[in-house]
Amino acid sequence: MRLTRFAALALTGLLAAPLAPAAAAPGPGSPTAGDPYYPGYGNGGYDVRHYAIDLAYDVPSGHLAGDTTVRARASRGLSRFNLDLELRPRRAWVDGVPASWSRQGREVTVVPVEPLRRGQVFDVRLTYAGVPGDKGRGYLGGWTETRDGGFAAGEPEAATLWFPSNDHPVDKARYDVRVTTDATKDVVSNGTLVSREDLGDGLATSHWRTRDPMTTYLATVAIGDYEIREGTSPGGTPYVFAINEHLGRAVRTSATRSVARTPDIIDFYSRIFGAYPFETSGGIVVRPPIGFALENQTRPIYPGQFFTYGRNVGVIAHELAHQWFGDSVSLRRWHDTWLNEGFATWSASLWAAHDGGAGLTRQFRRNVRLMDRTDGWRTKVEPAPRGDIFDGAVYRRGGLTLQALRNRVGATTQERILRTWATRHRYGHGTTAAFVRLAERVSGADLGPFFRAWLHTPREPAHTRANGFPRSMR
Ligand code: TRP
Ligand code: ZN
Repeated sequence: MRLTRFAALALTGLLAAPLAPAAAAPGPGSPTAGDPYYPGYGNGGYDVRHYAIDLAYDVPSGHLAGDTTVRARASRGLSRFNLDLELRPRRAWVDGVPASWSRQGREVTVVPVEPLRRGQVFDVRLTYAGVPGDKGRGYLGGWTETRDGGFAAGEPEAATLWFPSNDHPVDKARYDVRVTTDATKDVVSNGTLVSREDLGDGLATSHWRTRDPMTTYLATVAIGDYEIREGTSPGGTPYVFAINEHLGRAVRTSATRSVARTPDIIDFYSRIFGAYPFETSGGIVVRPPIGFALENQTRPIYPGQFFTYGRNVGVIAHELAHQWFGDSVSLRRWHDTWLNEGFATWSASLWAAHDGGAGLTRQFRRNVRLMDRTDGWRTKVEPAPRGDIFDGAVYRRGGLTLQALRNRVGATTQERILRTWATRHRYGHGTTAAFVRLAERVSGADLGPFFRAWLHTPREPAHTRANGFPRSMR
């Protein structure tokens, strides 16, 4: 069989490309996207273009029934391929033809009746069901069930609790999310509300669409009792805010006042980093004290607990900076987290300085002192610690790196570097090496030793002293 195929290919002249016979033979898609820190995440052999996610959510029980169609392009001939999902599959189809499937942990393997050709665009449809809220990962998030509904928020993963996917940021796609639930409930997702249809019998279907490419962990849906506010920023970007109605009055007031700064903040960042990358913006304030906020694309999620002591615009400025750094320009590998978190930390400082807070230099000094006090210099920024890619030192030292870069090349050039980064990699990906190269190209400076000291060395860079912050001054 093999020989025959080989001979046939030789006759058609394909032998000129020595790898062609092997590449043309359909084989299994990889069960991993190849991330060294998270080998279980994502898959290989195809590229997702679109997710059509249909959910039926029962609020009292937290039971979710899903029917999702993933449109993808095979990047090689595929005899089978994997999707990531932690709920129980019921049935599978490939291009409308029933397909067999099996599941091991979060890996669902789908076997189409006919192998897929390299380059073929195909639809894989999966029905599945379960109670996602009983599989959450605590402080890492996932699906949080609430008395009034539930919501998806988690990093570096959350998607496996509500839809089958290629669950790694390397594979971006567009989304249509339809949720059918109790007609008295609000449903908010990423992007734009296309329609809301009353089905009778106390049920309604809401349909949201995400036009711009989005990674899986940034997809969200929130179901519950929300106060919805809509409008358009002075710069022309529409927004949707959703504030959970079961939060206490004082928290609701301070949360509402904080998220209300969103239009100003994105217009401000647009002037520095280039146009806001997405069609719409906003935010969702949820009731459970989940302990984190998350930069879900176009619609970050904030827990009410962040507004217990009054307004908190810092967290809003942080999550909105991620719309450029993390959401539009995404990680290729999870150990590059500083490209998200360091950038968002520094950007929030820039907003604070603009908004009447301490200047960048004062904030820089304060953070240098905090690094001293927390022994943070022992942590390398990149690669981020294997056990905790969200280590506080990655945020703080990552942010300091961008301020040190500003001190080194000047404010205008540093901002040009960030703007070029956001523009050149818009809707794509970035790596630390690519950022260093770009910073050198834009500034014309040799920044190798600088970035080595700031990012890759487990002790304090001499530059903090060179920049005028000797230990005696702290
Ligand atoms: N990226 C989030 C932020 O800085 C924080 C975060 C880290 C997070 N780990 C998480 C959010 C786990 C949700 C779940 O804004
Ligand atoms: Zn962040």
